[in-house]
Amino acid sequence: MDVVEGKLFYQGRLQKACVGIEDGRIVSVRKVLDGDEHHDFGDRLVLPGAVDPHVHFRDPGSTHKEDFSSGSLSALHGGVTCVLDMPNTVPPVIDAPSLQEKREAVAGRSWVDYGLFGGISPRTDVASMASCHAYKVFMGSSTQSVLLSEERDLARALEAVGRTGKVVSVHAEEEGMLQRMDERSLRDHEACRPREAELRAVERLMQYRSQARINVCHVSCPESLSLLKGSGMSFEVTPHHMLLDSSMDLGAWGKVNPPLRRRADREALFAAFCSGDIPMLATDHAPHAHEEKERGFGEAPSGIPGVETGYAMMLALVKRGFMPLEVLMRAACSVPARTFGLNKGEIAEGRDADLVVVDPRQLTRISARRLHGKCGWTPYEGREALFPQAVFLRGRLVLRDGASVTERSGREVEHA
Ligand code: DOR
Ligand code: ZN
Repeated sequence: MDVVEGKLFYQGRLQKACVGIEDGRIVSVRKVLDGDEHHDFGDRLVLPGAVDPHVHFRDPGSTHKEDFSSGSLSALHGGVTCVLDMPNTVPPVIDAPSLQEKREAVAGRSWVDYGLFGGISPRTDVASMASCHAYKVFMGSSTQSVLLSEERDLARALEAVGRTGKVVSVHAEEEGMLQRMDERSLRDHEACRPREAELRAVERLMQYRSQARINVCHVSCPESLSLLKGSGMSFEVTPHHMLLDSSMDLGAWGKVNPPLRRRADREALFAAFCSGDIPMLATDHAPHAHEEKERGFGEAPSGIPGVETGYAMMLALVKRGFMPLEVLMRAACSVPARTFGLNKGEIAEGRDADLVVVDPRQLTRISARRLHGKCGWTPYEGREALFPQAVFLRGRLVLRDGASVTERSGREVEHA
């Protein structure tokens, strides 16, 4: 047995204790434990690794933006030990052969554990893709997305997903309400993709909520929260919709779908997050190359990178007193793990020993130069973050003193 000692987040609070690990799993949590190898982190925090249920690693097909290796290394450095990767890769993952192709393309290349989404097009045979971890539906078009917006297609798809028992994550923007015009600013982009489009899509999903396990992705405005509360559907909010808004001078670097909205919207989402009213934090890590973002606002693709900065910025906000640690632990770790059937996200007996060691005295400022993704930019330059000093993946020390120390050992996850 190996032992990791420190100030653990265990049973809802921080306590000085030891985690015993065998075969990659947590086998006991005690005040004192003896082990073959003993890692003592003193009064540093030992937290569960984050589970990011929404990333775009661009592999295969757009590996100039990111690939599975760079994206997952970025996740590791951000304390994210498990990611669920979206299907809008090239070719799109919308049937069994394309899922298999992607599975083979990324096998053995990840630094963290991962699951793969299967996308649903109007022609997808949902049951034939049952080896995906969860499904994804785009009700509104976005970067390289495969649309599913007609009512009968949506009904058929959600019914079929319901039979699989898996979760379906939905990009909820009503296609018919999105406008195309010459966009020059974040405000134009917001006007083209109005909040009513999100509200309408969420309302449409409401009628299927007892048929399938629906997860609404990247909620962008507080009105959607009111609709979703108590609906039985789960949902995600991104760091960018809580920390950035369309009045900021970000240009195309802040272009994303759904769009950044007003300052009041961002503040309301952040306040809801801090109060524990948002089930899941998801980064929607969607990197694009410098040259692509510099093409001029109208031409630039939508998407913001964030898998490395999301958990780390939120930890800094905990340290600054904006929210209790417990709230972040639920939204970034335990709820995404439970929602997606992963044996992760908590320090508890039987769970995978995915642990992140953080020193709350080591607040740093984000700098694009020091991040590990391929795109080389971040809209969070200069913001405070608490990056992990050490990370254990299934009990194995994979990051020490802020640097990766072993070979890549990420695996495709199974349902718990
Ligand atoms: O802004 C976005 N970028 N929204 C999406 O839905 C897709 C993503 C991407 O893949 O770039
Ligand atoms: Zn996305």
